[in-house]
Amino acid sequence: PSLAASYRSAFHFQPPDGHWMNDPNGPVFYKGYYHLFFQYNGLAAVWGNITWGHAVSSDLIHWNTGPIALAPDEWYDRQGVWSGSATVLQDGSVVLVYTGLTNQSVQVQNLATPVDAADPLLRQWKKSPQNPVISPPPGVNNLDFRDPTTAWLAGDGRWRMLVGARLAGSGAALMYSSPDFRTWTPTSAPLHAVPGSPMWECPDLFPVAHNAGLPLGVHPAGTPYVLKASIDHTLTDSYALGSYDAATDTWAPRGPDDVSQGRLLDYGKYYASKSFYDPVKGRRVLFGWIYETDSQQSNIRRGWASVQALPRAVELAADGADIVQWPVAEVDALRKHAATLRNVTLPPGARLELPGVAGCQLDLELAFTLPPQDEAAAPPPASAASEPSRCSPEGSAGGGALAVGPFGVAVLAAGAERTAAYFELARNGTAAVARVCTDLRAASLAPDTDRGVYGSAVRREGDGATLSMRVIVDHSVVEVFAEKGHTVVTTRSYPLGAMDQEARVFLFNNGSNSVVLQQATAWSMNSISISSI
Ligand code: FRU
Repeated sequence: PSLAASYRSAFHFQPPDGHWMNDPNGPVFYKGYYHLFFQYNGLAAVWGNITWGHAVSSDLIHWNTGPIALAPDEWYDRQGVWSGSATVLQDGSVVLVYTGLTNQSVQVQNLATPVDAADPLLRQWKKSPQNPVISPPPGVNNLDFRDPTTAWLAGDGRWRMLVGARLAGSGAALMYSSPDFRTWTPTSAPLHAVPGSPMWECPDLFPVAHNAGLPLGVHPAGTPYVLKASIDHTLTDSYALGSYDAATDTWAPRGPDDVSQGRLLDYGKYYASKSFYDPVKGRRVLFGWIYETDSQQSNIRRGWASVQALPRAVELAADGADIVQWPVAEVDALRKHAATLRNVTLPPGARLELPGVAGCQLDLELAFTLPPQDEAAAPPPASAASEPSRCSPEGSAGGGALAVGPFGVAVLAAGAERTAAYFELARNGTAAVARVCTDLRAASLAPDTDRGVYGSAVRREGDGATLSMRVIVDHSVVEVFAEKGHTVVTTRSYPLGAMDQEARVFLFNNGSNSVVLQQATAWSMNSISISSI
């Protein structure tokens, strides 16, 4: 197969006819189906001519695409139908709220409803005659006002919704309220703003619980919430845990760090995520855009750009200190041909091919036991997740001042090419900070590809004696979930040779202490087919 075909994902969502995709929009469950909309250019593999593409699924994994849901055909969205959300109203009907860029280059918020509410596939949409329903307020630039959230019904019986903005030098989530979902007025102040933060794109606010998901709506005081903003300067999704006071419509971060100052949903190439509540399984599910990291020219040559990340269930960690993200359980149904390896010591310098596993459609679960001396010296530092502790720039080669590691797994590996997903334990006084990293320095010999090292500190589960990771490889996509999903790193690799059946999997330890591979289980993954309805 051509390299272009080799890079194309086999079980992540992509429009079947290629072209350009960016943000996930309006995820919602309606009349038996999951719906996913997305920013889509059906003319070329570059951003522009943005419409809302639409896909439907009954399991969040297998998709069929419908007709374009929204196209730029009114004065108020002539230059693009941009990101937005879906809300299910009390009577069970569904409404889309999206940003239009007007013929005068003003960002406004608009409504659309199904032409036939009885159609579970929601194939046709009509725009409201009242559009636009919200225009930029004073103090907000015409081009800094977009990406409305799913709305929720507050205790006073009125709807609330957030719109991303930049307001007087602060990234901000502006709040609007409505008695009828038609007339929207700003609340007295933004929900939240962080001085010095760039424009907040694609805000998301949702309650979180341990081992469950929560719908939007009224929750007891003290219920933890996630506030997320997409920071366009860095193309990263930044979140903070905090509390949302529904009586005053205010939000306060719980810890020292706020949105744009601390944690990321993903430390790789993942952006503009959006969650929804899945009423079928009682969980909160997050979609996110995985963008390309090689040149635009390469995207054009391939004829497509971007994939959607596997949907992730998002929960509060058991101790409430951070959130965990994990691919929805439906992903496991794609697994076939497992290979397992148990109890193998990886001495310094070890490099061990994982037998029985090759290719570029893989799901790997790995657990390592750390050397006892470092176990004692490495209590899980409480503040690790909020430290700006990024991975060593030396990457997976080792030789630095680490306590343990780097050790982990190389995927998409052959010849001089490999993508390394690994742990490293850095000394931090008497303690050690564990980090999960992905090293792309040798991912590809192609000249126009990303050679970064990505990752961050990971909060350790249990007694800290083991470290585990799940690595999902889908051609050019590599998603790493460390320690049950406390830290996630998604990156892209475009090897010239280490693709398809050439791609191998190696365990390695480039540290100066032995580690033990407790268990490795590797599955090759089935493909999905995406067709139009
Ligand atoms: C984020 C974003 C949004 C905007 C959309 C346009 O990637 O820039 O802010 O609504 O994409 O396609």
